[in-house]
Amino acid sequence: MRKKMVVANWKMYKTLAETEKFMQHFPAEIAAQQQVEMVICPPFTALARLAVLLKKTALQPGAQNMHFAGEGAYTGEISPVMLRELGVQYVLIGHSERRRHFGEAETLLSKKVAAALEHGLRPVLCVGENEAQRRAGETEKIIEKQLWGGLGNLELNEELGANMVLAYEPVWAIGTGTPARGEDAAAVAGLIRSLLQVKGRGMADTVRVLYGGSVQPENIVDFTAQKGVDGALVGGSSLEAASFAALVEAVLKERGA
Ligand code: PGA
Repeated sequence: MRKKMVVANWKMYKTLAETEKFMQHFPAEIAAQQQVEMVICPPFTALARLAVLLKKTALQPGAQNMHFAGEGAYTGEISPVMLRELGVQYVLIGHSERRRHFGEAETLLSKKVAAALEHGLRPVLCVGENEAQRRAGETEKIIEKQLWGGLGNLELNEELGANMVLAYEPVWAIGTGTPARGEDAAAVAGLIRSLLQVKGRGMADTVRVLYGGSVQPENIVDFTAQKGVDGALVGGSSLEAASFAALVEAVLKERGA
C-alpha cells in the first residue's frame, strides 16, 4: 500500500521567525499522526531550525532544491550531503518555477535526481505542462519528455519507486486558484504509471504520484481520493498552520482515519 502524503512547498516565503510561529500554531494531534505522511519544504535559511522543531513530531523537513555535487565550488548552492546532515529525506527536483525562472532542464534534473538517490535522499520529481502546451493538446508529450528526462538512466524497478515520488503539477494550475479537475489529475497519474509499466520493472506500482496546483483544504480530497493519486504538493495553502493541518485532516477523514 502506498501511503498518502501531503507536501508543503513554502517557496520563498517565511523567515525564521515566521517558521517558528507556524510550528507554535500547528495542532499537536495532527503533528503526531502517522497515517498520512507530512513533509514541509521551507526556504534554506529556515531548514536547519525547522528540522530541530520537527524532531518530536511526525512531520518531516524537506528541501526545495539541491545541487548534484556532494561539495564543490558552486557559489550559492546547497549539496545533498548538507541536506542529509539535517535529517532531510525529501527534496523537490524540477519544480516548474525552477524550470521557468532558473532554466533548469532535463540534463541537469536527471543529475539531481540521481545524486539525491545516491545520497539517500528521496527526490520528488515535478512534471507538468503549461497553458499553451495544454491548449495545443501536448500534455501527454510533455509529461513523457519530462518524466524520461528526469529519470535519466535509472533502472525503473520497485526499489526506485519506493525511494522517490513524482508530482504532476500543471503549470497553469500553480498559484492561480484554478486547480485541475480530479479526473484530469487521475488521468495523468494513470498515464505516468502506464508509461512506467511499459519501460519499467515494478516502479509503476510502488512510486507515489502526487497532484499539485491550487490545492486547498476544500478540494484536496478531489485529488487524493482518485485512484492512483497518492497525495498533494501544496504551495499557498500550506503557509498557514491551520490550513496545512486542515489539508492533512481532510485526507485523514477521507481515509476514514
Ligand atoms: P500552489 O503551488 O498550491 O500555490 O498552487 C503548488 C506548487 O507550486 O507546488
